Amino acid sequence: MIELKNIKSHFPIFSCHSDLVYLDNAATTQKPQSVIEAISNFYKKENTNIHRGIYPLAVSTSQKYEAVRVKIAQFLNANDPEEIVYTSGTTASVNLVVHSFLRPQLKMDDEVIISAMEHHANLIPWQMACKDVGAHLRVIPMNRLGELDLKEFGEMLTTKVKMIAVTHISNSLGSINPIEEMIDMAHQKGIPILVDGAQSVAHYPIDLQGLDVDFFTFSGHKLFGPTGIGVLYGKKQYLDKMQPIQFGGGMIKNVTFEKSIFSEVPQLFEAGTTNISGVIGLGAAIDYVNELNRDEVLGFLKRMENNLTSKLLEVDGLRIIGQAKKKSAIVSFSMESIHPHDIATFLGAENIAVRAGHHCTQPVMDFFQLPATTRVSFSIYNQEEEVDFFVKKIKEIKQFFG
Ligand code: ALA
Repeated sequence: MIELKNIKSHFPIFSCHSDLVYLDNAATTQKPQSVIEAISNFYKKENTNIHRGIYPLAVSTSQKYEAVRVKIAQFLNANDPEEIVYTSGTTASVNLVVHSFLRPQLKMDDEVIISAMEHHANLIPWQMACKDVGAHLRVIPMNRLGELDLKEFGEMLTTKVKMIAVTHISNSLGSINPIEEMIDMAHQKGIPILVDGAQSVAHYPIDLQGLDVDFFTFSGHKLFGPTGIGVLYGKKQYLDKMQPIQFGGGMIKNVTFEKSIFSEVPQLFEAGTTNISGVIGLGAAIDYVNELNRDEVLGFLKRMENNLTSKLLEVDGLRIIGQAKKKSAIVSFSMESIHPHDIATFLGAENIAVRAGHHCTQPVMDFFQLPATTRVSFSIYNQEEEVDFFVKKIKEIKQFFG
């Protein structure tokens, strides 16, 4: 088991930038040495393509690539590794479901439900599909705390609804949505549901079979792994019915000029040479996370979030955006008369990394009538004293901008 107290030394970026206070973990997490080495060793010692060559090195790489699929299935408690499709990330995973699962069956006046706090990646693809056919995008409302209205959600579940897509954790508000209940409600009406796990998978144990969710998406780079690799989990019964949207090498059984016969899932959705080093790196990232004590991680992150929130609330004119009862370690806020970009620039000069902007959730900003927020997002290598340093700098910003 890895203990949190010495964890920072596992992440080489903090040796290169000893003063860095990295509070932008919802944008991307840092990479442990083991992940960097796994990728580097792959290119140094093992680089081949997969599922093509029959020489030993290629066979070994293919086996390692497929072993990571098994590892991901175990990590998420999926029923079958074949339900794990490699993609380039959450955005690609959502787009695959939209184009391959929903779009062929979606008709005029059908409905698709998303929530008021979706990232653009879990909003625009559904919006475009609805627009194409004259279907309607319905939005589960939220309250001022950033909590979804489940009563309203229940009333929205009519026979017109063909699909539901909802984020597990809001990247801009930190709200943890009651996905267990929402999945149950969807299934009582026989409606498939996708959960965007981009912000949850790094810190929260995910039990796909327990949840009984139909689709689940995440990105490797928010799980201490590399960029450009992600996963679509889909129940086999759905994946088996989906048509590929990309065609090419690696996804066929037989091709003639007259017709092509395709492979089975998941290879069916992995045309071309995929991100092999990304898969190897993701495997190393999961090994790393498997060594963490998840209870310790969640306890630590809750303390960090509570501590920062209570200290920020003492700052005059500062408003926390997103105060759901169930929250992850994401704290968004606005300060009266000071633009978030000015706050982030000031903090940046002090080597504090935060994100300021709309966080790819413009409808959330519209709801709170703000152009942007400043967002702190914690992860395992943050330090308790970073909270005090951060709050000190926020007080200086307030003085500076008067
Ligand atoms: N979706 C990422 C974020 O929230 C990039 O910052």
